[in-house]
Amino acid sequence: MSHLANQESASPPATIIVIFGASGDLTARKLAPAIFNLSQDQLLPENCFLIGVGRSPMQDNEFRKYLKDSLDQYSRRKIDEENWQKLESNIFFHGGAYDDPNSFNQLEELILGLEKKLQNSAQCLFYISTPPSVFEPILENLGESGLAKRHHGSGFASKVVIEKPFGKDLESARKLNNIINQRFDESQVFRIDHYLGKETVQSLLVQRFANSIFEPVWNRNYVSCVQITVSEEIGVGKRGGYYDKSGALRDMIQNHVMQLLALTAMEPPSSLNPESIRDEKVKALKAIKPLSLKGQNSEVVRGVYTEGLVGGEKATGYLNEDGIPEDSFTETYAALCLNIENWRWKGVPFYMRSGKRLAGKASEIAVQFKRPPGILFGQDERFSLAPNLLVIRIQPNEGVTLYLNSKTPGLETKLQPIQLSFGYETTFGSNTPEAYERLILDALNGDGTLFIRGDEAEISWSLLSPILTYWNEQKTNGLENYSAGTWGPVGADKLLLAKGHEWITGKDYK
Ligand code: BG6
Repeated sequence: MSHLANQESASPPATIIVIFGASGDLTARKLAPAIFNLSQDQLLPENCFLIGVGRSPMQDNEFRKYLKDSLDQYSRRKIDEENWQKLESNIFFHGGAYDDPNSFNQLEELILGLEKKLQNSAQCLFYISTPPSVFEPILENLGESGLAKRHHGSGFASKVVIEKPFGKDLESARKLNNIINQRFDESQVFRIDHYLGKETVQSLLVQRFANSIFEPVWNRNYVSCVQITVSEEIGVGKRGGYYDKSGALRDMIQNHVMQLLALTAMEPPSSLNPESIRDEKVKALKAIKPLSLKGQNSEVVRGVYTEGLVGGEKATGYLNEDGIPEDSFTETYAALCLNIENWRWKGVPFYMRSGKRLAGKASEIAVQFKRPPGILFGQDERFSLAPNLLVIRIQPNEGVTLYLNSKTPGLETKLQPIQLSFGYETTFGSNTPEAYERLILDALNGDGTLFIRGDEAEISWSLLSPILTYWNEQKTNGLENYSAGTWGPVGADKLLLAKGHEWITGKDYK
């Protein structure tokens, strides 16, 4: 059963967390802080060990210091010294090449040694947080060494968490799934999309299915369009080498944005069982019509930022960023118009966009309802009848706002949109767990609700791979420029205008 059905998660059995890519950025910024915050909240098992694996050798003590420094820098809470000292002696480092079977045999020795010390068996969580180029050898060696199929009685005692990107197109995602399926049972596999671990994303399911007022209007009879925006102010920073091979479609749309879409569009699941929820997401994704890519009816837009001002600071253009080849045609912005061909959504466009160096950081789902008939109000220009909007703010300023039309005070009848707002921080205070805390805890507990199932990843790629192929053929042809600090290329506005809509996020409704 999903953790969504429980008040609290149970503590998992004795555990050894093995992180591949232990000296990498993600371990320092996200994984180590998540693990130690879980420990601080006493959500980790009494006996919990951490083995970092990396290509360059490191002494255990060096690795411990590296993690401690990372915690001081990135943890959302100050780490309790007493707790750290307890944990420190349970941290080890194992150096070795990812394609060397011997290194995996040594890793197994290390695991067996810890179990001996415990006088008990432990579950192993293998967390693959390396560059994608070594996912395959790691998975293969976990299989060959037997680490993938460790057992406790009749149950599996190994789990594997795989970081994004899960493939770079449909073919590579299928290949990765095949490698995984030959070595693991799907119940052991946890494909990460950190957006699913965000508190507000989980709460989307609660908003939709724990309130009765939304379901009757959540369909083509009342909804005029759905807009999903994941915009960032940051550029590619030091990640130019990775980003240029990826681009906005692979980096953000294929995973984070498609997941937000699936949760918004899916039918109510029959239970909170992880498979029921994932089945419904898959059904919604399968109903999406292939996109038109060419000419007047194109449903895709891509852009790249040129220099501009972001938050008052000068920002350089993408082609001048470190590590970007001068003939690059990678998109830093993508917008799509998707059509979900099912009973609920036929005829309702789902607009999605994501980009770097935009005018603001915002992840939002905006549901725009149809305008009321202009019989009583609306025929006269004093009554500007705005459509009702439900805006679900994933980050920052997490919350939900409903826009309604109201009469302005005064003797004359005038209308104005007003907001009914709920803010997470105002209501619940700050210091909510980070996405990675939720996800690591769920993986330890074997709860796959907030992870991508193999078929989900493939369906998402099958929709987007043709776009990538087309853009690759077109090179710079059709790649629009936008100045850093704006809301993206003009083509993205035209995409909506063609259907009588405008982007909501970034527009001032006050
Ligand atoms: C990552 C992308 O998956 O998500 C990054 O690779 C992006 O390019 C990041 O910046 C955004 O995550 P968040 O949680 O800051 O919205």
